[in-house]
Amino acid sequence: MNTTPQTAASDASASGPSADTLGMSAAQARNAVLEEQILKDPGQFRVLTGDRPTGRLHLGHYFGTLHNRVRLQDLGVEMLVVIADYQVLTDRDVADNLAGHVEELVLDYLAIGVNPARSTIFTHSAVPALNQLMLPFLSLVSVAELGRNPTVKDEITHSRQSSVSGLMFTYPVHQAADILFCKANLVPVGQDQLPHLEVTRTIARRFNDRYGNGTAVFPQPDALLSSAPLLLGTDGTKMSKSRGNAITLAADADETARLLKGAKTDSERHITYDPATRPEVSSLLLLAALCQNRTPEQVAADIGSAGAAALKKTVTESVNEYLAPIRARRTEYAQDRTYLRQTLREGNERARAVADATLAEVRAAMNSKY
Ligand code: TRP
Repeated sequence: MNTTPQTAASDASASGPSADTLGMSAAQARNAVLEEQILKDPGQFRVLTGDRPTGRLHLGHYFGTLHNRVRLQDLGVEMLVVIADYQVLTDRDVADNLAGHVEELVLDYLAIGVNPARSTIFTHSAVPALNQLMLPFLSLVSVAELGRNPTVKDEITHSRQSSVSGLMFTYPVHQAADILFCKANLVPVGQDQLPHLEVTRTIARRFNDRYGNGTAVFPQPDALLSSAPLLLGTDGTKMSKSRGNAITLAADADETARLLKGAKTDSERHITYDPATRPEVSSLLLLAALCQNRTPEQVAADIGSAGAAALKKTVTESVNEYLAPIRARRTEYAQDRTYLRQTLREGNERARAVADATLAEVRAAMNSKY
């Protein structure tokens, strides 16, 4: 299919050395402008964001993106949150307990303050018209482009599967449907999701060029990069559920204390914030600082020469205090299964109405209304 043969990479490399670096710094510069516009006029934005239902969310998710979503919602930005239950089929054994994982995710969302009266929580498998968008979208990207996506390449390298499924290869296009079905113009993401957002922007642009007849059917959504630095898990590597080094939002105070007690530190007794040379200690300081709304340097100064045990005690108290209201709400919601199901049912209904309208528009643009 002949569409504008312009790739994401060629856009980003217009004026500099590395497309990757430029993609990042361009997104960062754009961030400042976006933040200003959000404060001035939150009503002009629609956010689509979401997660794979792989289990309970942890502190890395929370300070990486969840916290920011609730902030946007509370500023008055319209938000849709997709529970990506088809995307999760790309990663192996999770699919076994999908319904359970979906419920845990809804619980986490409600606990952190996603408000279903304002924000729409839905699963993409419940929204047929969203999924139908994937077919025209697939026609707008080449196999070679799909093969160049660095995040997918990385996932393929690390997957424990012996072969690459068609869904694994094409899921960024499905993600474009997640974003474009509701014409979201803002997507809060971590750095690893930037290539997917470029796919989305490319598809939006090509669809408009090819079928739009001079009008833009789809917006080209902006990434809103999370500003929080990466939190490490208790073993000093990236916090992630599959590594068993994560502190979940749902963990209780005792479990949190136990996990943090076992956290890796170093042998230097004087506590300082120095992410380059003391990554483990610095990540613990950062975690305490995020919970206390202070800087990691301030937290380090408080502890001084009291050593790793004192650091862990501070972190444990800070995390438990910060999460206490979130955990209390989570426990409350967990007792009300009817409310959980109703939240999802209503979210799915709202998402379906939006997707049906967009698909009707797409079919009209493509001249396929019979
Ligand atoms: N790929 C995202 C992740 O792994 C989840 C996701 C699915 C998503 N669809 C999305 C994120 C749309 C943002 C927008 O976390």
